[in-house]
Amino acid sequence: MAVSQSIVHVISHLDRDYLRQALERDVRTGLTASPKWLPPKWFYDAAGSDLFSRITRLPEYYPTRRELAILRARAADLAAASRADTLVELGSGTSEKTELLLEALAAAGTLRTYTPVDVDAVTLEAAARRLAGRFAGLEVQAVCADFERHLGLLPRTGRRMVAFLGGTIGNLDPAARRVFLKEVRATLRRGDTFLLGADLVKDTGRLVAAYDDAAGVTAAFNRNVLRVINRELRADFEPEAFEHVALYDERHDWIEMRLRAARDMRVRIEDLGMAVDFAEGEEMRTEISAKFRPEGLRQELVAAGFQVRRGYTDLAGDFTLVLAQA
Ligand code: SAH
Ligand code: AVI
Repeated sequence: MAVSQSIVHVISHLDRDYLRQALERDVRTGLTASPKWLPPKWFYDAAGSDLFSRITRLPEYYPTRRELAILRARAADLAAASRADTLVELGSGTSEKTELLLEALAAAGTLRTYTPVDVDAVTLEAAARRLAGRFAGLEVQAVCADFERHLGLLPRTGRRMVAFLGGTIGNLDPAARRVFLKEVRATLRRGDTFLLGADLVKDTGRLVAAYDDAAGVTAAFNRNVLRVINRELRADFEPEAFEHVALYDERHDWIEMRLRAARDMRVRIEDLGMAVDFAEGEEMRTEISAKFRPEGLRQELVAAGFQVRRGYTDLAGDFTLVLAQA
């Protein structure tokens, strides 16, 4: 019996010039603001993605395991409810959990195309090739793109399930989240679905431990943004001179990761012709990771024009997966 070949296409909306201009703009804006901040998407070069993969296996970092447990139990329901032939995944990373969805869509007999979308070209292409090898006949159209800028450029063929897993929605601040959800909604056509994974509000001690692990992997991930800026913009940050900080902000229901200067220092960013001063103890925000209440999440989806069709939570009540429709 002939086994049908899988096909892999990789397209990029992030050429070197685009990435460079975006990084220059973000670094200039964030490091001249008070307090200083940097957007989390710059964590993810190949080394940052590897560190994130290590985070997902840490004993303290529960979200990946919880989402996996929900997918194990519910992937078949999700496949049946969506009847999708095309799975588009935003911020797909290594696409490890996605295999469960692809298996369920294949078992339902609808799967044709997988479109992973990520800013990290190296991890994206490796995942695309791995999954093409794993699912005979699957067409993989990998897109290297920024999901905050390029949703309108993603392929719209087929009956699509757009998945946004891992709780990455929480890395957008509330205003950016509103815009993002409306943009996702605007790309959906009749019959398409949106599958959203979100981390839930819980005990503060567990939350903080998940972002400040004993082995220091999250600290290395946090400092990686400085390594990216050093390499790409010829800066001279000393990553080890910044302490990793993770705290829970109960007013906003979000974890904040920061880098705290261990001493007074001046950092030069050669390519921007700029010097940035840090005072000892000064903290720069590098990420928020919002935690949700199921009803609040539902309201955000409804406000963006979605109808919620299914909502699942793991047995411990830590994480939720919601299937919505336009
Ligand atoms: N979905 C995976 C990976 C989550 S890590 C999981 O659930 O485990 C977040 C992923 O989103 C990383 O792979 C990172 O490169 C990607 N990412 C972050 N910001 C992005 C952006 N603005 N556009 C596209 N991808 C982004
Ligand atoms: C990708 N994202 C959902 C992770 C999170 O939990 O917010 C990124 C991360 N930051 C620190 N640890 C993991």
